[in-house]
Amino acid sequence: MSIDVAQARKDFEAHFGFAAEIVVRAPGRVNIIGEHTDYNDGFVLPMAIERETVILARKRRDGILNAYAANLERRAQADLDQRTRNPQESWIDYVVGVADELAKLNRPLHGADLMIAGDVPIACGLSSSASLEMAALALFEALGGFHLDGPEGPRLGQRVENLFLGLSSGIMDQFISRMGKRGHALFLDCRSYEYELAPVAFPAAKFVIANTRVARGLTSSKYNERVAECVEAVKGMRRVLGKDGSHLRDFSLADLAASRRQLSEVAFKRARHVIGENDRTTSACEAMRSGDPAALGELMNASDYSLRDDYEVTCPELDAMTEIARGLPGCLGARMTGAGFGGCTINLVAAKSLEPFTERLMTEYRRRTGIEGQVFVSLPADGASRIQ
Ligand code: GLA
Repeated sequence: MSIDVAQARKDFEAHFGFAAEIVVRAPGRVNIIGEHTDYNDGFVLPMAIERETVILARKRRDGILNAYAANLERRAQADLDQRTRNPQESWIDYVVGVADELAKLNRPLHGADLMIAGDVPIACGLSSSASLEMAALALFEALGGFHLDGPEGPRLGQRVENLFLGLSSGIMDQFISRMGKRGHALFLDCRSYEYELAPVAFPAAKFVIANTRVARGLTSSKYNERVAECVEAVKGMRRVLGKDGSHLRDFSLADLAASRRQLSEVAFKRARHVIGENDRTTSACEAMRSGDPAALGELMNASDYSLRDDYEVTCPELDAMTEIARGLPGCLGARMTGAGFGGCTINLVAAKSLEPFTERLMTEYRRRTGIEGQVFVSLPADGASRIQ
């Protein structure tokens, strides 16, 4: 737990004048490798982090959500019979969106007085929104006395993004926030939802998350643009090769080479990233299984070059952060993580070099960009849960 629940309970009571009955939490995540592959039915390898969103609540008799976002010091109300978006208080949309999808599944919905607290940095590529969605799901489950099994919870979260919020995102963030396990990364096949918990078992190396402090610009429009470019690449290859296949997952680098001349340069580059990234992610899982951080680090570097040059989702600050990191002693690998266009990098660093690494990374990043970055180490954490 990264949030002080006893303090949060006091804050709830101070705000509402009565005690919370239900406390749920869900973590943010960092993606180790497998970027922009999930909506291409490919593979991802994220881990949940020791930063989380907590919701404290007391059930109401009516269908009203009376919500207080402690970090933002904002309040909002929502009617569970209406379930519309709130342009003034858009943070509540993540909760209402979950309710909306549950209503479609005919699950019982109960109103509540609730307080949201958390320490997942917002808009930094660490999935604060997925953690809020998965915490909200755990809350509605607790209020309504039901439980969604296996991939149903994450899939519901993805529909909230796709249908309620209009972002064509994949399933990775919600999946890891709900299903993560302490001490493990999660290797997920985004087509079948089969997954393997891969132990993070190299004590001599640590994952370091570095925040560029550049808010992700234009993320949703650029993101949806990439999704469309991948669809275009699939259509092109199907046409040229006469091969079936619904997603880039169904094509190999040989398929891509054979159709190169009929594809636009952009479609070609996007596809080359995704197809190569699926292979790298599978190899990274092997490296985790065999406890080989050096091999994993090299794959992370290769992923980053591909995201920078072929997928074009980095930005000068992300590139500065990874480039500086790779030049420092003890750095086994560095890459941007999440959707891109700003946000965070993930670095695999020899444990003995940790302190000088983080210090020099921040100093050099400040010197180059004028921005005060932020850095923290996280072990793999547990997925969403109710706190008794
Ligand atoms: C965002 C999306 C995920 C995934 C990543 C990129 O985090 O929500 O579904 O596509 O970007 O890998």
